[in-house]
Amino acid sequence: MPIYFDNAATSHPKPKGVAEAMLKALTEFNANPGRSGHASALAAARQVLRCRERLATLLGAEDAMSVVHCFNCTDALNLAIKGTLRAGDHVIATQLEHNSVLRVLGTLSARRRIDVTLVPPRPDGFVDPDDIRVAVTDKTALIVCTHASNVTGAIQPVAAVGRLARALGIRYLIDGAQALGAMPVNVNALSCDLYAFPGHKSLLGPQGTGGLYIAPGVTLMPQREGGTGTESLNPVQPAEPPERYEAGTVNLPGIAGLEAGCAYVEARLSTIMMHERELTAALYEGLVKMPGVTVYSPDQESGRAGIVCFNVGDLTSAQVADALNGRGIAVRGGLHCAPGAHRFLGTVERGAVRASVGHANTFDEVDQFLAAVAEIMHR
Ligand code: ALA
Repeated sequence: MPIYFDNAATSHPKPKGVAEAMLKALTEFNANPGRSGHASALAAARQVLRCRERLATLLGAEDAMSVVHCFNCTDALNLAIKGTLRAGDHVIATQLEHNSVLRVLGTLSARRRIDVTLVPPRPDGFVDPDDIRVAVTDKTALIVCTHASNVTGAIQPVAAVGRLARALGIRYLIDGAQALGAMPVNVNALSCDLYAFPGHKSLLGPQGTGGLYIAPGVTLMPQREGGTGTESLNPVQPAEPPERYEAGTVNLPGIAGLEAGCAYVEARLSTIMMHERELTAALYEGLVKMPGVTVYSPDQESGRAGIVCFNVGDLTSAQVADALNGRGIAVRGGLHCAPGAHRFLGTVERGAVRASVGHANTFDEVDQFLAAVAEIMHR
């Protein structure tokens, strides 16, 4: 495996217990949770519940039933947004959102005459809650804010936006794709109604997992109908969460792996956070002092997730990512599915190189990476 600095796309390596838990689910209780009443099905159901409980703990949610298993963060965001908005609604999102928000809003806006306002960040890369306040109309039904930009890593003022949304009685959705598992999250302190997250990034679970926190009292239109193992005579989806939103068989091996990833993270969150913050600082400091390198991530250590985004000389980001790949270093180049962020940075044409750290990266890898960038710069 190369030096892996692409953890914002998916984390690697996973703790050993993740694959072990997946294998155990597949070989020891590979049954359909919540359907049959035999021993294996009950063991599978207990596994699904254990994962829900761990996720609730990491989210600071009191009730595990407020956590819905989804297939990834995009799936969760689709449920949250499409399950909320109706024709005539107005929605506010930030310009930094990922396409998993922007394309959902774009499609709804084209089909259902929903009005969308995208609030740009201030020059420092952070959205100002006052700019969101100014965009509110009497039709605003939802505010969407990324917890941390997947392009620059800039951690947005999500708690302040939450206080604003709560004061105005507007539903509030946070995209936690780059945050949950990488920093402390408490859905009550953030005053959010909905918090979407992937399982395969900082929670260290496998791909095909993720979830949505839905605050008690918040009801969404399900985006999938089908079997839940409950109320089989009911012609429509049951009203009760989480079954209401989990039609069809869940990803049992994935959920087993996710629970193991969550357990690993839960036991050492502050250590992981500190380690990733220091690695990111070393990357940032190393890059920022290289003449000819442009760094786009925020300079305050506390203001960024484990991402450093940059360009080198007049090379395209693809050229730099390819050159790093040739030296055994994995990063992401190009556009990062967040067009508004690239418009803000002025990197629509050549994209940006993104180095993103994880729990297993080392300072020696940072040194090798910086040496490689310097070599690419001067070749
Ligand atoms: N959304 C992921 C990323 O930013 C895949 O790379």
